[in-house]
Amino acid sequence: GTTLKASAAEKGRYFGAAVATGKLSNSQYVGILNSEFNSVTPENEMKWDATERSQGQFSYTGGDRLVSHAQANGMSVRGHALLWHAQQPPWAQGMSGTALRNAAINHVTQVATHFRGKIYAWDVVNEAFADGGSGGRRDSNLQRTGNDWIEAAFRAARAADPGAKLCYNDYNTDGINAKSTGIYNMVRDFKSRGVPIDCVGFQSHLGTTLAGDYQANLQRFADLGVDVQITELDVMTGSNQANIYGSVTRACMAVSRCTGITTWGVRDSDSWRGSDNALLFDGSGNKKAAYTSVLNALNGG
Ligand code: G3I
Repeated sequence: GTTLKASAAEKGRYFGAAVATGKLSNSQYVGILNSEFNSVTPENEMKWDATERSQGQFSYTGGDRLVSHAQANGMSVRGHALLWHAQQPPWAQGMSGTALRNAAINHVTQVATHFRGKIYAWDVVNEAFADGGSGGRRDSNLQRTGNDWIEAAFRAARAADPGAKLCYNDYNTDGINAKSTGIYNMVRDFKSRGVPIDCVGFQSHLGTTLAGDYQANLQRFADLGVDVQITELDVMTGSNQANIYGSVTRACMAVSRCTGITTWGVRDSDSWRGSDNALLFDGSGNKKAAYTSVLNALNGG
């Protein structure tokens, strides 16, 4: 193929980008998006603070706009993210106990129901594990409602949208380490007990080196019987950027259950990483060396 999306599709995969809905009116941005990508993830528009600003008052303007753009252009949608310790509305940040648990599960049910049938995969729970060597859960208001909050969220999401793949999504999981092993053990436990989980997202916000066991880590999750996806890929600028992009792409292509790759934005100027210049297109919309490296890897090079 000669584009990211065509080359990925030839291998049965998607190639996606995180989209800030406000940029859909920028012709350069949307031109690249529509020609190169066939999956979108809302960068912020489906998060809790955006969709339930006051308790019980739901608004889906940005998410709906992105879904219609996707449907009009043959793109699938990754929903992001139903529950997360960050970007909670202020009213939820101050809650705890049963009240917070009920509010959180209601949030999952309402949002997944609104978008039912339109989402390829949901990040049901985002970033619930701690960094460092513990391998345990991150402390948060949600975690303090009880260790079973994650499985309760997955069950609610399955009931609301049985057709969506349900993912757990996290960062600093780029190799076999304490954090990724903690998640691995949770997924294994969920599969053994019939908790509905279909996929694990590896955000892959990367620096100047890539873990040597990146592919092996994806494979061990796939071997548990879940799909894996690269969900928020961006890589620090520098002499290794194109190589790392190529290696990540080849790793996904080598794991049959790796169903797609998403970069966390389109142009360097769209990235949360600012001067890291971490994406595949420069601020003027030109293809970078990293783009060529990804395209070649998608095409088997
Ligand atoms: O929309 C408001 C605007 O009204 C206000 O004036 C302005 C002032 O700060 O803030 C705007 O909201 C910002 C929002 O992005 C939209 O631009 C928030 O402050 C800012 O915190 C928010 O950042 C997002 C960040 O998640 C929040 O944690 C980034 O865009 C987004 O790229 C980033 O994405 C996360 C993933 O969801 C999860 N994984 C890590 C990844 C990178 O941090």
